[in-house]
Amino acid sequence: MKPRIFITRKLTEEAVASLHEKYDVRMWDEESVAVPRAVLLKEVAEADALWSVLADSINREVFEAGTKLKIVANMAVGYNNIDLEAAKEYDVIVTNTPGVLTETTADLAFALLLATARKLISAENEIRKGNWTSWAPMRFTGMDVGGATLGIIGMGRIGEAVARRAKGFDMQVLYHNRNRKPDAEAEYGLEFRELDTLLKEADFVIILAPFTPKTAGMIGARELDLMKNTGVLINVARGGIVDEAALYDALKNGAIWAAGLDVFEKEPIPLDHPLLTLPNVTVLPHIGSASIKTRLAMMNLNAQAITDVLEGRKPKGIVQ
Ligand code: GLV
Ligand code: GLV
Repeated sequence: MKPRIFITRKLTEEAVASLHEKYDVRMWDEESVAVPRAVLLKEVAEADALWSVLADSINREVFEAGTKLKIVANMAVGYNNIDLEAAKEYDVIVTNTPGVLTETTADLAFALLLATARKLISAENEIRKGNWTSWAPMRFTGMDVGGATLGIIGMGRIGEAVARRAKGFDMQVLYHNRNRKPDAEAEYGLEFRELDTLLKEADFVIILAPFTPKTAGMIGARELDLMKNTGVLINVARGGIVDEAALYDALKNGAIWAAGLDVFEKEPIPLDHPLLTLPNVTVLPHIGSASIKTRLAMMNLNAQAITDVLEGRKPKGIVQ
């Protein structure tokens, strides 16, 4: 019997063609609808390998059910959706897809920063609503990005890629990270700051840290209050790093000027979420890595990791 792989989202055939030859590939048949829990648990019980996406909670229950499971290949760089303790206990390898999405995610971070600073989405919407009645001196006016000060929280690969872009915009780049990065400081002219100082000095703050018990709720009311009232917060990492209730208050009462969010505490963000009532929030549906080339590269990495494990080789991208 061929080893069985379960994939939790519908993928293009070309992405899984290499797997079909050797394996029994089963795939949830919707691209934009999450696999129901009952289906996931039933499928994983028969699977040797699980191909997950960041929206799947791969918790202890999944590892308990997956008695034949050897690998969970998570098609993302983040892996906070996976219970690593349980994976270890059940002796299942977990892999992610770093490296290939660095530049694509940095592009999106910068695009969201520009869109939020210059109100691109709401300005565009006004045209479509028929509200562009004349050129208006102070309408649609935003914040300058060129020459401003950027504070990056989390200086990993994506942080460095954002810093390089910021240098092209003549920005002063501050960063905060668990440990200092002397090489990146020298190479890109970055300046390390304690978190509070960064929040006070930056015109734009971009969050690029992983979601961990330490970063959960790291940006709350106190931190938002330290930011300039002309400040802009961009989150392209994980929703839970920012306290959304505190963010709502800060945006509503003018403690900060605007926010651009690609990630949320709960995804998809519920349509009745208070943040969606605010004009100074720009929202995107978690598309940091969403270029055609990058998504195909992530799929390739996942397919390769699964093939490696099922053929007894050590895969790339082991997170534990
Ligand atoms: C995206 O958020 C990822 O972790 O790949
Ligand atoms: C703007 O288009 C200008 O000419 O100032």
